[in-house]
Amino acid sequence: ATPGALAGRHVVITAGPTREAIDPVRYLSNHSSGKMGFALAEAARDLGAHVTLIAGPVSLATPEGITRTDVISAVEMLEAVNATLPSCDIFIGCAAVADYRLAEVAEHKLKKVPGSPDLTLNLVENPDIIAAVTHREDPPFTVGFAAETRELARHAHDKLVRKRLDLIVANDVAAPNLGFGADDNAAVLYHLVPNGPEDPVASYTLSPRPKQDLARALFEYLLP
Ligand code: C5P
Repeated sequence: ATPGALAGRHVVITAGPTREAIDPVRYLSNHSSGKMGFALAEAARDLGAHVTLIAGPVSLATPEGITRTDVISAVEMLEAVNATLPSCDIFIGCAAVADYRLAEVAEHKLKKVPGSPDLTLNLVENPDIIAAVTHREDPPFTVGFAAETRELARHAHDKLVRKRLDLIVANDVAAPNLGFGADDNAAVLYHLVPNGPEDPVASYTLSPRPKQDLARALFEYLLP
């Protein structure tokens, strides 16, 4: 992509995990480090974009020249995303959003019940943030991520269609030294071919490389 290819564009990126409180001291979450989303933010900034990074709880420094909003839960992340949408041109959902949250967060620390070996937590579905973005009127160009441990292509295609994404970046998180928490990542990009007879899915493979390089390659692909 040429320098300044994203000048004047507002790119909004979600990154990291969300954390869903169980009680005042415990939560449900996942192993997302936020590194991929932060690398995308830097790559978009380097192409001249105005970048808003909406980050779950991660231990990463804010890259220079990027507007960052910190959130904890999926519901908070959705609110922060919604606030950016009026001016958003490109939305990249890189966050590993928890699919469920507690139906009720306990006001006080849950206590072990003597003689009761099982504990049941009631969960309710979280909002699908990226689907909320694409199902609006006049949605931005939207890129999603799919972290899978098997049947990468099938799940990626399914998400592309169901979430109405323009592009999906599929990662094999079962691969050693790649994906979740790692410094390197590999991906297969899927998108529909507009006006194709059966809207077939096209794919493009990005071999293993540092997340910064993968982020740059993704924008190269989007902005040749
Ligand atoms: O369905 P799955 O979680 O695998 O989909 C992954 C994609 O959807 C990612 O782009 C992720 O950021 C987004 N997502 C979301 N809100 C959710 C769940 C996933 O934005 N509640």
